[in-house]
Parts: sequence; C-alpha cells; structure tokens
Amino acid sequence: MERGEMLYEGKAKQIYATKDPGLVIMTYKDEATAFDGAKKGIIKNKGIVNNRVSCLLFKLLESRGIATHLVEQIDDRNVLVRKMRMVPVEVVVRNVMAGSLAKRLGREEGEPFSSPIVELYYKNDDLHDPMINEYHAQEMGWATRDELEQMIAKGLQVNEVLKELFDSIGIILVDFKIEFGVAGNEVLLGDEISPDSCRLWDKVSMEKLDKDRFRRDLGKEEEAYQEVVRRIEGALG
Ligand code: TMP
Ligand code: ASP
Repeated sequence: MERGEMLYEGKAKQIYATKDPGLVIMTYKDEATAFDGAKKGIIKNKGIVNNRVSCLLFKLLESRGIATHLVEQIDDRNVLVRKMRMVPVEVVVRNVMAGSLAKRLGREEGEPFSSPIVELYYKNDDLHDPMINEYHAQEMGWATRDELEQMIAKGLQVNEVLKELFDSIGIILVDFKIEFGVAGNEVLLGDEISPDSCRLWDKVSMEKLDKDRFRRDLGKEEEAYQEVVRRIEGALG
C-alpha cells in the first residue's frame, strides 16, 4: 500500500491517505516534544522503536480480544491502520503514583495503588490537555456515554494485559495514555502505545525507560527506548 496525500501532521506522527478510503498510513517521526510542544528535541530512531513496540503491543492486545486500528506494519516507520474518527479524549491508566498526579496531590512518586486509577483528559494543546470527566466529554459531544464506558473498560483491560507482559520482562508499568477512535459503530484502540506514552521503570534498578528521560533531561533516551524494544521483542517478537 502506497502513501497518498498527507491528511494530518502531529508532533510525533504523520497520517497519509491510501487508495482504500477505509485505511490510512501512520508514519512515525523521531521528533520528541514535551509540555504541549514547549520543549522540542530529537530522540534518534524513536520513530522506528515506537512503531515496532506499538505494533507488537497492539497485536498482543488483539490476540486478547481488544479491537485496535492495526492492519499491518509496512516497514520500520510506517504502519497501515483503519481510518477512524478520533475521540479527542485521552484515557490515562495509573498503577503507581507518578507524574502530574503526584504533583497535583503533593505525593512522592513510587507509591503503588491497590487498584488502577483511570483519568480522562481533553486532547487540546492550547488548553494544556485539561483533566475532564465523563460528564464533560458527553456534554461537549466528544463521545457518547456508551463510547466512554467502552473506552474506560478497554483501558482497564489494556492495563491488565500490558502489566503482565511488562512484569515478565522486568519492567513496572507505572502508567500510560491511550486514545480511541470510532469506525462504523466500533470503538477501536488507536494512536500508539510506546515509551512516549507510558511510564516504564526497570524493576531492579528503578531506572526510567521512557519519555521522562527526555522530559526531565536525564539523558540516554535512545538507549532506554532500545532497551524496551529489545525486551519486548524477546518476549513477543
Ligand atoms: P502525566 O502523569 O503527565 O499526566 O502522564 C500520565 C501518562 O500519560 C504517562 O505515562 C505519560 C502519558 N502522557 C502522554 O502520553 N501524553 C501526554 O501529553 C501526557 C501529558 C502524558
Ligand atoms: N504531548 C506532550 C507534548 O507534546 C508530550 C508529553 O509530555 O508526553 O508536549
């Protein structure tokens, strides 16, 4: 399948039309941003790692009955996916206190939760992705009650599958962000799941193996991303 016209360019990916109106190609870039685009940089080969990691994780999720947009990986930076109407609501699932939640509640990072915490954010850089709840999303017309319920339930299912996988490769899945789209009357998992969109801590060293290395200027971003793909390929590749 060949790339047609570029339909959309985001901070980390581009979306291209294909000859099939129901399919688009996602192309992963090496550009990294943080704080709603205020901090910019490049993580070498990030696009390649994120495409590979995301394809492997989406395939695993499909095998566990979670429907996703994935059709097939085309090459190192390109993946063929179903075209969807994206829901502008990010679903964050947290297993351990970290990041914006630790800051907002004045807690130390690292406290494990007895059960996962789900949060919703309105995807809008100009507004700095404000936290919302189901009532806001429904009233603003971003998603129906039923779609939101499905997104939250699927978020928790994704968490169970990925927590187990990461645990088996010596990584704590601290938290992650996922996005959904609607194709026909189906709610499908879309976008990506990668070290850009997860917090991943090595179980032994507690080293961060994710985008926090870039956000917090910790260095060795490329090495951390490569380590994640190496371990996932060892388990699933
Ligand atoms: P947070 O603690 O900054 O709210 O982030 C929670 C999770 O969501 C973390 O795994 C990183 C991910 N995330 C994104 O993928 N995109 C974003 O824009 C933000 C703020 C977080
Ligand atoms: N979505 C944020 C941005 O691009 C990045 C992040 O913190 O993950 O600025």
